[in-house]
Amino acid sequence: MTLEKNLQTVATVVATHQHLPGALLPILHAVQHELGYIPADTVPAIAKALNLSKAEVHGVITYYHHFRSEPAGQHVVQICRAEACQSMGAEQLWAHACVRLGLHGDHPGTTADGAVTLEPVYCLGLCSSSPAMVVDDKVHARVSISKFDRLVAQARSAA
Ligand code: FES
Repeated sequence: MTLEKNLQTVATVVATHQHLPGALLPILHAVQHELGYIPADTVPAIAKALNLSKAEVHGVITYYHHFRSEPAGQHVVQICRAEACQSMGAEQLWAHACVRLGLHGDHPGTTADGAVTLEPVYCLGLCSSSPAMVVDDKVHARVSISKFDRLVAQARSAA
């Protein structure tokens, strides 16, 4: 999408959310919902509309794991790394996912082929059935390493 179209989307989102108390978060959620991410070149427009600095808006985007500054891959895989899931092996699952997908770090991004974006999440409300993960908005509980491999393979083959 072009910058012009992105800025049009941002202007519409701002117009419908600007009146809300604490409008920045609802606006960022809506922009990501519409565009799939929050393009860096739309940050100045968001900041100006809310009378904030670009650094303040950027700070909020980078603080919340939910927000993306880059487009996601074809499939989005999120692994819960919060406490209950950690106690049931989520960190081993995360490490396996990184190796399996050839990614690294706490915000590993997208596989080289653009097929899978791996992201951390912090509690999906399935603590009693942990570890939990999401594949393309569908939540899965009690995720073993073999279940992870199966779910990701299914997502890739459904591409
Ligand atoms: S801690 Fe993972 S679902 Fe709650």
